[in-house]
Amino acid sequence: SMHLIVTDTREEAVNRAAGFIAGLVAQRGDPVLGLATGRTMEDVYRALVARHEQEGLDFSGVTSFNLDEYVGLGPEDVRSYHHYMRSLLFDRVGMPSSHTHLPDGTAHDPDAECAAYEKAIREAGGIDLQLLGIGDTGHIGFNEPPSPFDSRTRCVRLDRQTREQNAAMFGNDPDAVPDRALTMGVGTILEADSLLMLALGSAKAEIVARALEGPVGPEISASAIRLHPRCTVILDARSASAL
Ligand code: GLP
Repeated sequence: SMHLIVTDTREEAVNRAAGFIAGLVAQRGDPVLGLATGRTMEDVYRALVARHEQEGLDFSGVTSFNLDEYVGLGPEDVRSYHHYMRSLLFDRVGMPSSHTHLPDGTAHDPDAECAAYEKAIREAGGIDLQLLGIGDTGHIGFNEPPSPFDSRTRCVRLDRQTREQNAAMFGNDPDAVPDRALTMGVGTILEADSLLMLALGSAKAEIVARALEGPVGPEISASAIRLHPRCTVILDARSASAL
């Protein structure tokens, strides 16, 4: 039931992913989108902004929940995922902050914040479409290995490899990257009505092959998507090259 799409170019892969999301927004009007961050998604959000500006794609009814946020970074911090989302998507397509949700990395009680986040997802009626990238450790969201497939939104410790992967936003210093994050759990992600994973470039080829063809289990949290009944994976030729 996993639908795999491999495109020749990076641009086609991005356009397929953006088209998938835009189709749901146009058809439903008020979907609940699960959103992801990372460099891969920057191009997807640019493509969605272009559809808003050029075709009038209307985001005013959309509700969103992001996968994760760094512990200790407030929404005004340019390195936070709050800031990433506002600058790349929310402010550009007119999604008011009352419609958008990310875990609060500055919450004094992280456990309470994570429980409240789960409750907010439930009260919104659940996530219709969850967008996913993949990290070098095989994570979805920030679900570092091992992450049980029934894990929920919680505070996690980030692997060294993940802090290295994301160091560009932190002056290329992995030690400056927060060592903890709040993330939706694998179980939370699997409850979305459908999943859309996007991976680009040769640097992702090996981990993509392990996630899609290796053992399904908590050592590679991305492998969990193979258990979902409605899952689409979009790859460019480079990220698919080890399949
Ligand atoms: C971060 C996010 C992940 C994302 C990953 C991929 O770790 N928490 O959800 O999948 O980045 O990053 P990139 O797209 O920059 O390779």
